[in-house]
Amino acid sequence: MCGIVGYTGSKAAGEILIDGLKKLEYRGYDSAGLAMQAEHKLIINKAAGSVADLEKRIEGQFDHITVGIGHTRWATHGKPTDINAHPHCSCCEEFALVHNGIIENHQSLRNWLTEKGNHSFTSETDTEVLAHLVEEYYNGDLLAAVRQAVARVEGSYALVVITAHEPGRIVCARQDSPLVVGMGENENFIASDIPALLAYTRKIKVLEDGEFASVSAAEINIFDAHGNGIDKEMLEVSWDIEAAEKGGYDHFMLKEIMEQPAAVRETMRQRINFADKKVDLSEIELSYEEIAALEKIHIVACGTAYHAGLVGKTVLEKLTALPVEVDVASEFRYRDPLLGKNDLVIVISQSGETADTLAALRLARKQGLKVLAITNVVGSSVSREADLVLYTWAGPEIAVASTKAYLTQLVALYLLAVHFGTARGVLGENSITSLVEGLTTLPGHLAAILREEKTGKLRSYCEHLAKWDNAFFVGRNLDFPVAMEGALKLKEISYIHAEAYAAGELKHGPLALIVEGVPVIALVTQKSVIEKTLSNIQEVNARGGAVFAITSEGFDVVDDQVESVFHLPPVEEILAPVLSAVPTQLIAYYTALIRGSSIDKPRNLAKSVTVE
Ligand code: G6P
Repeated sequence: MCGIVGYTGSKAAGEILIDGLKKLEYRGYDSAGLAMQAEHKLIINKAAGSVADLEKRIEGQFDHITVGIGHTRWATHGKPTDINAHPHCSCCEEFALVHNGIIENHQSLRNWLTEKGNHSFTSETDTEVLAHLVEEYYNGDLLAAVRQAVARVEGSYALVVITAHEPGRIVCARQDSPLVVGMGENENFIASDIPALLAYTRKIKVLEDGEFASVSAAEINIFDAHGNGIDKEMLEVSWDIEAAEKGGYDHFMLKEIMEQPAAVRETMRQRINFADKKVDLSEIELSYEEIAALEKIHIVACGTAYHAGLVGKTVLEKLTALPVEVDVASEFRYRDPLLGKNDLVIVISQSGETADTLAALRLARKQGLKVLAITNVVGSSVSREADLVLYTWAGPEIAVASTKAYLTQLVALYLLAVHFGTARGVLGENSITSLVEGLTTLPGHLAAILREEKTGKLRSYCEHLAKWDNAFFVGRNLDFPVAMEGALKLKEISYIHAEAYAAGELKHGPLALIVEGVPVIALVTQKSVIEKTLSNIQEVNARGGAVFAITSEGFDVVDDQVESVFHLPPVEEILAPVLSAVPTQLIAYYTALIRGSSIDKPRNLAKSVTVE
């Protein structure tokens, strides 16, 4: 869960590496460092703190150096200190490397190296053993040493290594953590993620598990685990560089919230035939017969993507008449799930790199099931290992708290449900037409919500909310998973303890916590349960709770019963979760802003969780 960059060429490496690391800070940001290849020696600069701190420290000092590697860390083994920051070096500082992943057998390797008597360790990290292993095996060829070193390793790694002995050369290895090589003119780049490279090149080669690369300014050579050369396809990345920057907003999160109408439109584009009012998901290679033969769906995901899965359960069950189970990936893999041979597993992952989700995918495939991935990152591990992929086209999401990726995950699930419901003969012509019409109104409705919020209604409730350390989100039916996602968003960025409850459960415990002023955000978009939810709101009112309702246009009955209310544009109630999520995102954003917390990079959290 760290960011990695590398450069070899003829320009000042420091500047390019720092620039790349800034684009990757969402992968980790508790310490940062560079190793640069000077004549016959390596120069290491690393410390706890941000990439900006590192930039200040090295400013103007190493402009003559044209080869280097860099790292921004999210601590796993060892605290975020100067010593534990990457790059890590061998004893003699002739080898330096940066690493993303976990070396599971680091302790036994450390013991083995220590017993040999010629290695001493300085940090508490698992990574440092790799530097000593490379040193131990080095015999004039860095690639050979790295291959021998990783052969000893159990765990995951994206590894980038330089040595003082081989000027201009960078060696990389990948296992279970992402790594790409970017091609330039007489210069080449390495990064854990594509945004770090976009300012320099759009031509990339994605390393697969078990592969190695030897990179110099003039060439990129890729090898398999046995040392055989691989002729790898070059991909052209079409992402707009602006899309990876803040674009005028104070925070990536607000920018990404504002991008939602476009992200949703983009995810539907080319998948909806607007003339026929049909969904076309022929990109998913499952025949109607195969879809009709399905007996059950298992959705597996983590965090926000899990909440998308919970909405997906209700939607898929309604539209396809298939039973759907939803699991948190870290639980799924350890509970011996009962998977039938005619079941389909759907994994949802924005990054496509979440370790637990990837493990769940592998478990399902090992048992012979087909896995369909909903992911936002082309070339991600999940997308490459799944049998079928449905991409969300949200563009890069930088803020740790997921917003536009979540909304596009919902849209992907709706499209899938309509497609499956059609294939299984559950949905008639009229239902399909009205669902497709409803879906096509979503981008316009989202834009309307984002205009409406400018009236300040949400912000004034947030002034109240920001004074509390506890809050509740409640809802029934499809409003419940939206409440869960709203509570997660508030927790993540404002640090207010927020809990979501199925509204009917309030009286089974949490009502004891409702006293004068306690903030309760109620989602009320499901007509079939509106009376029931209103009764629950009354229970809160009776104890003095301050209820803010998010409800649909036409549900005027809610207005008189709550302190303040936000109206959503009218939409079929099955689609309401796409709209109602947005005010909850803005509530979290404004509350965090008032409380002065770090919005894009909340404490202790990271964007991409590539460790268990
Ligand atoms: C982290 C992120 C969340 C995200 C979750 C799953 O916890 O902070 O925003 O929902 O991982 O990530 P994925 O990339 O698999 O959707």
